[in-house]
Amino acid sequence: MLNIDNKMKKSSLDKQKNNKIWGGRFSTSPSELMEEFNSSIQFDQILYIEDIEGSLAHSEMLSKQNIISKKEFLSIKSGLEQIKKEISNKEFNFSTKLEDIHMNIENRLVEIIGDTGKKLHTARSRNDQVATDIKLWLRKKIDEIELSLKNLQRTLIEKSEIYHDLFMPGYTHLQVGQPVTFGHHLLAYVEMFGRDRGRLLDCRKRMNELPLGSAALAGTSYPIDRNFVAEKLGFSKPTENSMDAVADRDFAIEFMSASSLIAIHLSRLAEELVIWSSDRFNFVKLPENFTTGSSIMPQKRNPDAAELIRAKPGRIFGNLLSLMTVLKGLPMTYGKDMQEDKEPIIDTAKNIKLCILNMEGMIGNIEPIPEKMMEALQTGFPTATDLADYLVKNLKIPFREAHHLTGKIVLLAETKMTPLENLTLENIQSVVPNADLKILEILKIKNSISSRISYGGTAPKNVLKAVKNAKKRFLEG
Ligand code: ARG
Repeated sequence: MLNIDNKMKKSSLDKQKNNKIWGGRFSTSPSELMEEFNSSIQFDQILYIEDIEGSLAHSEMLSKQNIISKKEFLSIKSGLEQIKKEISNKEFNFSTKLEDIHMNIENRLVEIIGDTGKKLHTARSRNDQVATDIKLWLRKKIDEIELSLKNLQRTLIEKSEIYHDLFMPGYTHLQVGQPVTFGHHLLAYVEMFGRDRGRLLDCRKRMNELPLGSAALAGTSYPIDRNFVAEKLGFSKPTENSMDAVADRDFAIEFMSASSLIAIHLSRLAEELVIWSSDRFNFVKLPENFTTGSSIMPQKRNPDAAELIRAKPGRIFGNLLSLMTVLKGLPMTYGKDMQEDKEPIIDTAKNIKLCILNMEGMIGNIEPIPEKMMEALQTGFPTATDLADYLVKNLKIPFREAHHLTGKIVLLAETKMTPLENLTLENIQSVVPNADLKILEILKIKNSISSRISYGGTAPKNVLKAVKNAKKRFLEG
């Protein structure tokens, strides 16, 4: 956190009654209560790089269009560069009296370069300025988050390749369903994160239009060049409607919805890690450096990182709902309500990235315990579907009847307390008299898994193909 209102700055500002930037038509200064309530500098100072970037492009355009002189632009530029250094060196005194990052910087510019600094705000308003700043900031965050998702996919794909033939139970209703491979299970998440990346990029594309130049809400009478500024700041084009440009934050809502889906996907994987690493399952050992000990129970190693990822959707959905509620029913155009956008946006970007990085850390050094996975496959009769399919394919029994007969065989195994693959031919023939020896092969886990060769299925050779494919689809380019 940077210094706010340090003594020196406070005394110089206290001397003057009204706000330097907009105080002209006021005879009294705002109440202290109002000042604290109204200011956003505590959280919008994070936008200083983008605010300065925007001001540099804006002032260069003003000079190119002869709205200010070249000399004035160069002076503004050097002042802004000094301010950037002051802030990054934590030598800048932020003031709540100056409300937000925009006015703190502008005020300091005038202190440094004098009256020329007062020309910076020509042909713009804080309304188009703040929308531009957030878009610039969020664009960077989206790029970082998208890249961290790609890295997580890479780690998952590497593990899928290594464990393409490690058998484990596949679950429905958290009951053993059919055998799958650990690699296939991990690749399921690679697909989810692939769609998540797509959603982030879609949202980035739609938001990448420049608001600056829309001014307060109606545009401006100065002969500005918005295309020049758009190009300078890496936007695809200027926004089409000045009122829309200052009034909407749909791009932030899209980002937060995309983040909510990422959080949902991560929380499911996190919950699986919690289950898998529990002492009842014991399917995996999580890397020690992503777990913690208990202050009282010496034997414990708790999956805290996974649990936090499981919990973070709470705040991430909350942030989304909070901004949706702020915007709902807000009349055109800007309202101070919109200052409430920043904390949820910033919090979401920070936390979703942390979740992705921690998940990658855990997956990177996860150690599966094959014996435990195999042990779990000995219960729950996971090859029952294979048995029913065998009856259909080889003995021409209609599926519904085959399902019924298989149920009887499962019951038999259950009474004998043995896995299906340990039944004898005689056992099976007591239910299906014309079953032959081939049926015993069908009941083996290995054969069940390697028979799942349909496109997208779990057979190890499919998984290897899917790994290759995933590398091409998600990691190249
Ligand atoms: N701090 C304000 C915000 O975050 C900046 C825009 C202020 N505009 C205004 N007309 N009061 O929204």
